[in-house]
Amino acid sequence: MRLLSLFCLAMLAPSSFPKKQAEEATPEISIAYQVLKVYPRGRQVRITCNASQAPPPVTYSLLASRDMQVDKKVMDTHKPASFNINITLKSSPDLLTYFCQAASSLGVHGPSARLQMYWELWAKPVSQVQVDFTLQDRESGPRAEMSCQASSGSPPISYLLVGKNGRVYMQQRPHHGQPANFQLSGMWGWFQCQAENSVSVQSSAFKLVPPVQLPLVPTSVLAGSLFTIAAITCWMVRTRALML
Ligand SMILES: *[C@@H]1O[C@H](CO)[C@@H](O)[C@H](O)[C@H]1NC(C)=O
Ligand SMILES: *[C@@H]1O[C@H](CO)[C@@H](O)[C@H](O)[C@H]1NC(C)=O
Repeated sequence: MRLLSLFCLAMLAPSSFPKKQAEEATPEISIAYQVLKVYPRGRQVRITCNASQAPPPVTYSLLASRDMQVDKKVMDTHKPASFNINITLKSSPDLLTYFCQAASSLGVHGPSARLQMYWELWAKPVSQVQVDFTLQDRESGPRAEMSCQASSGSPPISYLLVGKNGRVYMQQRPHHGQPANFQLSGMWGWFQCQAENSVSVQSSAFKLVPPVQLPLVPTSVLAGSLFTIAAITCWMVRTRALML
């Protein structure tokens, strides 16, 4: 089901091109694609270049990033040219950029809009959200921390600290491969961690966070720091609410 929805997304993606940009840059050649086959680390894709207004014969070129020619085809009719290519997963999105160009008796048509096939083809859902609760004794007093990490999933991954009441208390987007670290001093109860990226959401089991003794400080200072924690928490919850 997941694969199916990714597949549909990939099929729909060409129509989601910023139309205005495509029209301005390339009035006469368009690019579209369709996923034909899915391999573990590759995809077979059909890229179609269409300059149907050009008088035949039309020489179509499919180019990749840095103007590298991938393939070439001469069409003797007004039909668009289709290229079936294998794409393997690359570490950088710009290596998966394709565009078309065509040449006819009228001159050069294009380049077309750029087709970036990174997210649509390889976005992986988040899976197995692990949480770890630690209590550290610091000079400044004990510190309760919950760390949270998904074992896999495409970046960027956002992590939310969610209470049993469904409230979002904190939110972090650490560098890819790093866990989120939520400071819980002054908070207790049942919490879970929720990880989300562009394709899915996963939650950990609820974990009971015990109340952590705050260091002995004059009551007025303590009240002040509790107020700060409450204010920050409210601010975060509000920020989250505004983002939704
Ligand atoms: C090619 O583009 C023209 C408009 O420029 C459109 O009418 C035609 O349907 C397109 N052909 C295909 C196969 O997409
Ligand atoms: C694409 O890759 C698959 C699997 O690696 C291979 O079987 C197929 O022949 C390749 N097709 C092209 C057009 O290179």
